[in-house]
Amino acid sequence: MAKKSLLEDLNIEKIPAHIAIIMDGNGRWAKKRALPRVIGHEYGVKSVKNITEAAAEIGVKFLTLYTFSTENWNRPKFEVNAIMTLLVRTIRKEVATLQKNNIRLKTIGDIKALPADAYNQILEAIELTKDNTRMDLILALNYSARWDIVQATQALSEKVKEGIISSSDINEELISRALHTGKFPEPELLIRTSGEYRLSNFMLWEMAYGEFYFTDAYWPEFDKECLYKAIFDYQKRERRFGKTSEQIQENTNV
Ligand code: IPE
Ligand code: IPE
Ligand code: MG
Repeated sequence: MAKKSLLEDLNIEKIPAHIAIIMDGNGRWAKKRALPRVIGHEYGVKSVKNITEAAAEIGVKFLTLYTFSTENWNRPKFEVNAIMTLLVRTIRKEVATLQKNNIRLKTIGDIKALPADAYNQILEAIELTKDNTRMDLILALNYSARWDIVQATQALSEKVKEGIISSSDINEELISRALHTGKFPEPELLIRTSGEYRLSNFMLWEMAYGEFYFTDAYWPEFDKECLYKAIFDYQKRERRFGKTSEQIQENTNV
């Protein structure tokens, strides 16, 4: 008998609309196999494909993948170049798959500062997939949460200066909307692979009430079953948003 998939245990009514993933451990995965780190990134792309497909299949509407952080520029030049080359190659190759699967490509982060070929390839794929409706695949590229908060603060300050809003109008909603992530709902579930337990400058604002899931699997090992397991775990939790368990279960405010 075929091994049972955890997919059968998932409550299809309670699939998170937005899952964010800190894809970590490519380098260690490669090192364990005595391979160059860059090969780890190449295998990481396979996981991106699998997980994008799995997420779309089960009805996730937004999938954000932390692909390259602001701080990742500090890696050896060789590795940064290899990641950028891989990015261009992968988007060029996979844009047809996105089209076929009705997936819209989006980004968060300062993509203008990427190498020109990467920037152009991304813009082209965004344009080509812009009318797709099944799921948004959001790549965090040259992204960090503090960078996003700074650019949002600057944008709001400009509006105050121009008299479009006054400083007392600034509230949580305006800040949320000014963030690059503001076009998407906040993630209900954040997954980090490779046994690290930190945010590394990702979604600091958005994860105020989001659920965290950590796994020891390195990103190249993270397969569809791993995703189902993370969602299964998430579905067992009670999200209280500051209330009591009784209030949540009775669906009341009293
Ligand atoms: C994640 O894997 C990919 C990127 C940050 C681009 P790493 O390259 O961080 O792998 P480890 O953490 O060194 O194993
Ligand atoms: C976070 O992973 C960034 C991405 C996954 C793109 P890192 O590997 O860069 O994070 P740290 O340096 O271990 O915190
Ligand atoms: Mg890492």
